[in-house]
Amino acid sequence: MEVIIQSNPQTATHVAAKIIARQIRNHPSTVLGLATGSTPLMLYQTLIEMNLDWSEVKTFNLDEYIGLPFEHPQSYYHFMWENLFGHINIRKQNVHIPDGNAKDISKICQQYEQLIKAAGGIDMQLLGIGTNGHMGFNEPTSSLASRTRIKTLTQQTCHDNARFFGNENDVPRHVITMGIGTIMEAREVLMLAFGTNKAQAVVNAVEGPVSAMNPASILQMHPVAKVCLDESAASFLEKSDYYRWVYANKPAWQEI
Ligand code: F6R
Repeated sequence: MEVIIQSNPQTATHVAAKIIARQIRNHPSTVLGLATGSTPLMLYQTLIEMNLDWSEVKTFNLDEYIGLPFEHPQSYYHFMWENLFGHINIRKQNVHIPDGNAKDISKICQQYEQLIKAAGGIDMQLLGIGTNGHMGFNEPTSSLASRTRIKTLTQQTCHDNARFFGNENDVPRHVITMGIGTIMEAREVLMLAFGTNKAQAVVNAVEGPVSAMNPASILQMHPVAKVCLDESAASFLEKSDYYRWVYANKPAWQEI
């Protein structure tokens, strides 16, 4: 795992934007896995401003609430079109977001897995992390081999996401999420985390034991995982000096 610690969310976002921009420039028909939430907002704005060519890019979002209409301001469908897709030249048919309004949820979960396979797999998966260590909506105790499926959110996540809905009771209890096994098959993963409220989840993921209790800790088993943090999110890391040392001494030939 490559841990990149930057002084603030802006500079950490800049590093992540460079990584994604390079991926799109070098591989115009790349398959990206995307995340929602507050963490990637600045990243999406930065990517929009970079004027990249998204015409051949395919995307697969991590998750979606079940039962929220597409046009609901908190649906991830709405989030993605509002904050990224509506501002870039991506083709609508290349965008994939789990359909939280499907009649047969388990069928569309299976289809989602097939669509990812048919696209050749995910080249680069962007991730945030929940305060409880979830990635996607794979909550603690999720199977580390899980595939795209329905999950019930924890009370902690409903509480955390109440800020988007105004009221905790309005947060849908059920979601569709890519599984941990699905995420682990991405060729490269890029996790972002900012703020002190993520510090515990980050130290559990990066330096804790690999455990279904901390779903993001499975990234320790991923061959190409990068984690971009600001100082606050990195503040509990025992080996932070080492991560800074590695980053500062990266040979020029070894790209970020
Ligand atoms: C969203 C997702 C979640 C979020 C996590 C952090 O697609 O997969 O795992 O990344 O809940 O959310 P924020 O960024 O709002 O703190």
